[in-house]
Amino acid sequence: MPTASVVGASGFAGGELLRILADHPELRVEQATSRQYEKRSVGTVHPNLRDLDLRFSSPEDLDDVDVLFLSAPHGVAMDHIDEYRDVADTVVDLSADFRLQEETQYDEWYDGHTRPELLSESVYGLPEINRENIAGADLVAGGGCNATATILGLTPLAEAGVLDDAHLTVDVKVGSSEGGAGGGAASSHPERSGVVRPYAPISHRHEAEIQQELGVSVSFTVHAVDMVRGASATCHVHPEEMPSKADLWQAFRGAYEDEPFVDLVSGGGGVYRYPEPKSVAGTNRAEIGFEMDERNDRVVVFSAIDNMMKGSAGQAVHAANVALGFDETTGLDYRGLHPVGSP
Ligand SMILES: NC(=O)c1ccc[n+]([C@@H]2O[C@H](COP(=O)([O-])OP(=O)(O)OC[C@H]3O[C@@H](n4cnc5c(N)ncnc54)[C@H](OP(=O)(O)O)[C@@H]3O)[C@@H](O)[C@H]2O)c1
Repeated sequence: MPTASVVGASGFAGGELLRILADHPELRVEQATSRQYEKRSVGTVHPNLRDLDLRFSSPEDLDDVDVLFLSAPHGVAMDHIDEYRDVADTVVDLSADFRLQEETQYDEWYDGHTRPELLSESVYGLPEINRENIAGADLVAGGGCNATATILGLTPLAEAGVLDDAHLTVDVKVGSSEGGAGGGAASSHPERSGVVRPYAPISHRHEAEIQQELGVSVSFTVHAVDMVRGASATCHVHPEEMPSKADLWQAFRGAYEDEPFVDLVSGGGGVYRYPEPKSVAGTNRAEIGFEMDERNDRVVVFSAIDNMMKGSAGQAVHAANVALGFDETTGLDYRGLHPVGSP
C-alpha cells in the first residue's frame, strides 16, 4: 500500500491531515513529526486521534514514503525542500512557500524566497481550477484558506468574462484555527470571544495568489470572527456590464456541476439560503452562492469553506489523490453535521 508522512503533525492542519489519512483506504501513515512532542502519542495533542497507534517522530528522521505532506510554518518547506524531496516522490506543501510562481511576488508579499529556481516546478494545489497540472505533479502547493474561498467563489465569473474590467472587493471572515495551534494572544479565547475584528484591512498576502490564479486584482479585507473553523468570503463584483441571472446560473452550474466537493447554495427556502461555514465544518466541501443587485450594478458572491479542510488539509489530500491517480474523493467523501454548535 502507498505510504504517507506528515511534517508538522502536532499543528492544527497536521492533525486534520492525520484524521483524514487514518481512514484513507489508499494511503498508510508512516510518520507524524513534531519536535516538541517527539516520542509521545499523537493522541496527546489530538484527542480525536487517541485510538491511533502512532507516535510523533523527529522531522530529521524521515523515512522514504510515496507522499509527504508538509504542514509547518512559512519558510520551513523552502529551507528544507531538498531533504523532503529526497524521501518522497510527491511532496504536498500546505504553506505559502511554493504557491506563487515568481520570485518578485515573494519579495513583494513575503520576505523573499530561498529557492526561487524551484517555483516553476510547483503547481497550485486547488483541484477545481488546476487538476490537469496536479495530476502526476511532484511538488504541489496547497492554496491559502482565504484565497481558496475567494478563488472558488469567483472562478465561474472569471471563466464567463464577468470579471474583465470589473471592480472587485472581497471581505473574508475567518475562524481562529487559521492562526494555527500557536496562534498567539489575538487568538486566545478571551481575546477572540465575540469579536468581528478587521485583522487584515488591507495588504493580506493571499491577494497575491488570488491575482495569480484569477488574473485580476482584488481589494481584500479579512476579519477575525468568533468561530473556530470556517472562512466565509463575500465578493462584491461591479462588472462593466451586468450579466443576466440566467447567465450567472449558467456560469456557476457550468463551473461546478461536476465538482464532487462544491455545492451551489443560492436563495431557495429555509434558514440556510446562502453559503455558511457551519454547514461544511469538518468536511472538504465548499458552498458557493450568489445574488444580483441590479439597483447597484453589483453581483455579490458568497463562498464558505472549513479553513482546516477545504482551506488546507482536505485540499491537500484531494490534491494528493489527483497527483497519485486515486479516485479524487478517496478518504474525503463525508458530509457535515447538522445541527451543530459553533464550528
Ligand atoms: N490553519 C489554517 O487554517 C491553514 C490554512 C491553510 C494553510 N495553512 C498552512 O499550513 C501550515 C500549518 O498551519 P497550522 O495552522 O497547522 O500551524 P500550527 O498549528 O502552528 O502547526 C505548525 C506545525 O509545524 C511544526 N513545526 C514548526 N517549525 C517546524 C520546523 N522548523 N520543522 C518541522 N516542523 C515544524 C510544529 O510542531 P513542532 O514545533 O512540535 O515541530 C507544528 O506541528 C502553515 O504553513 C499554514 O500557513 C494553515
